[in-house]
Amino acid sequence: MMTTISQLRHHAGQQVALQGWVMTTRSSGKIAFLVLRDGTGTVQCVFPRKEVSEESWERFGTLTQEACVTVTGTVREDARSPGGFELTATDVVVTAPSVDYPITPKEHGTSFLFEHRHLWLRSRRQLAIARVRHEVEQAIHDFFYEREFIRVDTPILTGAIGEEAGELFSTEYFDLGQAYLAQTGQLYVEAAAAAHGKVYCFGPTFRAEKSKTRRHLTEFWMCEPEMAFVDSAGNMELQEAFITHIVGRVLDRRAEELQELERDTAPLEKVTGPFPRISYTEAISQLQASGSDIEWGRDLGADDETLLAKAHDKPLFVMNYPKAVKAFYMKENPDDPRTVLNNDCLAPEGYGEIIGGSQREDNYDLLLGRIKAQGLDPATYKWYLDLRQYGGFVHSGFGLGLERTVAWICGIPHIREAIAFPRQIHRLYP
Ligand code: 4AD
Ligand code: MG
Repeated sequence: MMTTISQLRHHAGQQVALQGWVMTTRSSGKIAFLVLRDGTGTVQCVFPRKEVSEESWERFGTLTQEACVTVTGTVREDARSPGGFELTATDVVVTAPSVDYPITPKEHGTSFLFEHRHLWLRSRRQLAIARVRHEVEQAIHDFFYEREFIRVDTPILTGAIGEEAGELFSTEYFDLGQAYLAQTGQLYVEAAAAAHGKVYCFGPTFRAEKSKTRRHLTEFWMCEPEMAFVDSAGNMELQEAFITHIVGRVLDRRAEELQELERDTAPLEKVTGPFPRISYTEAISQLQASGSDIEWGRDLGADDETLLAKAHDKPLFVMNYPKAVKAFYMKENPDDPRTVLNNDCLAPEGYGEIIGGSQREDNYDLLLGRIKAQGLDPATYKWYLDLRQYGGFVHSGFGLGLERTVAWICGIPHIREAIAFPRQIHRLYP
């Protein structure tokens, strides 16, 4: 009977067939081992020489890494083997060969591996990262579904600049001039929040950033909830619950993957609300006290973020940044109009900003003033300004960067491994 590795537990003692790819083989002359991957898991197939036919034994000898094969045998429960089951194999048939597979068990350089990303995805670490990412995505959808948020899919081709004029990919759009690849879905979920109350979008976003850091991609996935009648404080409470939920879910369901990645889970276990909160102004004082020459008014850089976050073992909220370093849509702070009602959320262990969020400017005149002050064209924001004309409402939201979150949870140094096919300034292939 044809089955899959994840289903072996239902077939203990039975004769089954598995289709998959050869990860490794070894043989002592008396007994041979094949580790098979079929997408649902990996399993060790054991070929005792005296119990398999001469032809099968010879075919085993021709197996190469990543050949596609069908293995038949008996499922054997074995507490010592990963997954708890082994296959005592009787036969193996090669259905498609693999000659000179480029990624061998020896060490390879990073650029070689990324050039072979389409094959590298099959490696154990990459399998684990992909499954953690998948779990995070599902946890995100479940979190919002349970809280009655409506998912709204926002456009990727847009006519209005969402975040930063300097970081846009643009393309000719028929007779309408320039279209931009969306930097954010936020402006659109704000419109949708007036329709549905609580909404979110979750999709690819684009930044033509010339940053070659381990935290930047030119295409990344962002989840952006937007809520009517929620202020900045309520926004942070949701972020706290959201991150706690995501991390808890991965710890609960992806323990095996975290182990494969040799992730120390102790720091992740500590991620439960409430998270510490400091103002931007306090952050500047803390940085200055630890010897930094940063001055009030400057945006925080990656090193500043790492230094601030190091003082805590939970994610850290930094609130109320200067207006000048943040986007036009953030609401002015009534207690200090030099600043806005925003927050960044900095992950622990040096992973930096994973969330940017804010209460939105709901005053028509102030918003129009900010649009003009930033040199943006008010005509392209007419529809966005309309939201302040027809039933304007207190509302807030945030954006969580998926790859940064996955990189942090996996404990991997660079976010380029947190997506199947990363897009960076110097990488468009495969
Ligand atoms: O802080 P950002 O730019 O915020 C926004 O785009 C808002 N519109 C979100 C909102 O309020 N709805 O980006 C949000 C998050 C960052 O915290 C980071 O995790 C991620 O998106 N991010 C990137 N991830 C990878 N590569 C890049 N170049 C990124 N830029 C931002
Ligand atoms: Mg940000």
